[in-house]
Amino acid sequence: MTGAGIGWGKLILCGEHAVVHGHPALAFAVTRRTRVRLEARWGPTAILGEHVDDRVLDALSTVLEPEGWTVRVDSDLPVGRGMGSSAALAVALVRARAALAGEVLDPDSVFTRAMPIERAFHGNPSGLDVAVAARGGVLAYRRGPAGPEIRPLNAHFAWSVVVLDSGEVGNTAELVAAVSRQRPGIDPLLERIGSLVGTAEQLLGDPPALGALLLENHALLRGIGVSNDRLDALVALAIRAGAWGAKLAGAGGGGVVLALAQDPAPILREAHRQGVRALSCTLATEAP
Ligand code: PMV
Repeated sequence: MTGAGIGWGKLILCGEHAVVHGHPALAFAVTRRTRVRLEARWGPTAILGEHVDDRVLDALSTVLEPEGWTVRVDSDLPVGRGMGSSAALAVALVRARAALAGEVLDPDSVFTRAMPIERAFHGNPSGLDVAVAARGGVLAYRRGPAGPEIRPLNAHFAWSVVVLDSGEVGNTAELVAAVSRQRPGIDPLLERIGSLVGTAEQLLGDPPALGALLLENHALLRGIGVSNDRLDALVALAIRAGAWGAKLAGAGGGGVVLALAQDPAPILREAHRQGVRALSCTLATEAP
C-alpha cells in the first residue's frame, strides 16, 4: 500500500515578513516541487531522502507515528532558500496520507492539516507558503483574524522570473522572530510593504513599474534587517544585467533573489560568469 502526494514550491513577489503581522502578500507557485511517498511497514518509521535533516525529522514526527511507515521524500526545491521547501513537504505529506486512506482533500483541508507541520518548522508561519504549496497558481493572501484570506488570481505573467541563489541558508524561524522583536519601531516599514502589495497586483501587466516596486520592497526588507551584502549584490547584478527589478524572496538572511526580466538570458549569463547559481523559473498554474 503506497500513498503519494506533492506540494509546490513558491516565490513571494511582494509582502514577506509583513504578511506574518497581518498585512497582505502576493506569491506564486513555481514548477518545482516536493514529492512524498508513504508506505506501511513493520517496525520503526524510516524517513528517507536527500534533504532529510533533524528539522525534517522533528517536523514529520509531529504527524507520523513512531512505528509503521516508510517515508520517501524527493524534491527539486533548494532547502532553506525562501522557496517554500518546508511548506511543500508538509503539503506533500498531508496529501500522501490522505491518498493512502483513499481520501480526496480540497485545498482548504490540505491547508488546515499541513499548518501544524509548518508550525513545527517555523514557529509562527503566516500560512502563505502552505497556501501556495497546496493550491499552485498566483495567490493574494492575508492572515486574517478569523483565518486565512486566500484569493487566487487569474494571472499570466508576460515576463520571466530569474532566481539567483545566494548559496546561503536563511533560518526562517529566527528571522521572523528577529523582525517581531523590532516592533513597533518598524511598523511603518511593515505597513509600507503591505501597501505595495495592492499596487503590485495592479501592476502585474506592467513589468517595468512592477520591477521598480520590487526594488522598493527589497529596500524595505533591508530596512527591517533581513537582507545582507550578498543579497544586495545579487539584486545589483540582476539590475546591471537588464532586470526590471529584483528583490530577496522569502525570509532572507540568505536564500534567493528573484529578478523580473523580459529576457532571462543576460542575467543567467552574468550570474554564471560570477559563479552564482541561477535558474529561470516558470509559474505553476495547475493544482497538483
Ligand atoms: O523563506 P520561506 O520560504 O520560509 O518564506 C518565509 C516567508 C515569511 O513571510 C518570512 C514567513 C511567513 O510565514 O510568511
